[in-house]
Amino acid sequence: MSLPDLIIRPRRLRSSAAIRRMVSETSLSAADFIYPLFVDEGIDEPIAVNSMPGVSRIPVSKVAETVREVEALGIPGIIFFGIPAQKDAIGSGGWDDHGVVQQAIREAKAACPDMCVIADTCFCEYTDHGHCGVLDGEDVDNDATLANLQQEALSYARAGIDVIAPSGMMDGMIAAIRSALDDEGFTNVLIMSYAVKYASAYFGPFREAADCAPSFGNRATYQMDPGNRREAIREATLDSDEGADFLIIKPALAYMDIIREVKEATLLPIAVYNVSGEYAMVKAASEKGWIDEKRVVLETMLSFKRAGADLILSYHALDVARWLNEDK
Ligand code: PBG
Ligand code: ZN
Repeated sequence: MSLPDLIIRPRRLRSSAAIRRMVSETSLSAADFIYPLFVDEGIDEPIAVNSMPGVSRIPVSKVAETVREVEALGIPGIIFFGIPAQKDAIGSGGWDDHGVVQQAIREAKAACPDMCVIADTCFCEYTDHGHCGVLDGEDVDNDATLANLQQEALSYARAGIDVIAPSGMMDGMIAAIRSALDDEGFTNVLIMSYAVKYASAYFGPFREAADCAPSFGNRATYQMDPGNRREAIREATLDSDEGADFLIIKPALAYMDIIREVKEATLLPIAVYNVSGEYAMVKAASEKGWIDEKRVVLETMLSFKRAGADLILSYHALDVARWLNEDK
């Protein structure tokens, strides 16, 4: 038995930590992250979210302190989800200038003017039926919802928002919001579109956190079918053409192929949403001691970047920033 004359040796490029660092293709930094925050108008003290260990709903009075903590870790952005004290059939709390997200935006910008403040812009937290817009029978009325989205975006803009992030998957939502903002002089407010959002079981824990589970049916007439790939390119292209500044793909982990394909189809920055169910699975397995939480989370985040993500919305963001600091 003899060895081949020539063995090509890729292992040479892995032979020391210094060389591995020199040839590393992908890196993670705190600047890659956006941290989601749940702000509840009806509470005075934080309330832990059961299915998301380490995540709490916070009162408006804790927003400033929390945003300072995020900023101190080097994370450049936060995204607000609001839980209003009152809900109604159309979600009118969403465009109340004194609503919970509007209050949170003012607190955040006053405490940390340099923080990029993003608002999830939808109605499922504000409607008493939990759907993402105005109902027409059992379905969501697209165009009636667009008019309300314009009001909601303008109200957030008046409160000082930096970025509007519409998440309801309504047709024409980017064009509608862009024109409303521009008409009122908010030409510098950005739009981060949830352009590619699947009807996913991975949103389960979030619906507890944000109190927004639909009271009947599901979101399959507006969110995408998980089997569809070409439709993702179509949605991304439409939102880009309508004037979105960033595109979000959501969920992330089960949709890595979509991240790569959308990245290749657009020149806009891509954000991926590492959603509540993805977070809950990692937390549960690490609480049981079955996986190494830090290594699994850092590997997963790196993989989102490798797949094409420029930004990552994640409940792990604070931990990741701490881990990156301690490893320096
Ligand atoms: C609301 C919204 C949802 C999420 C973000 N915005 C829930 C949904 O569509 O049901 C999910 C986030 C997560 O699971 O972490 N439109
Ligand atoms: Zn919604």
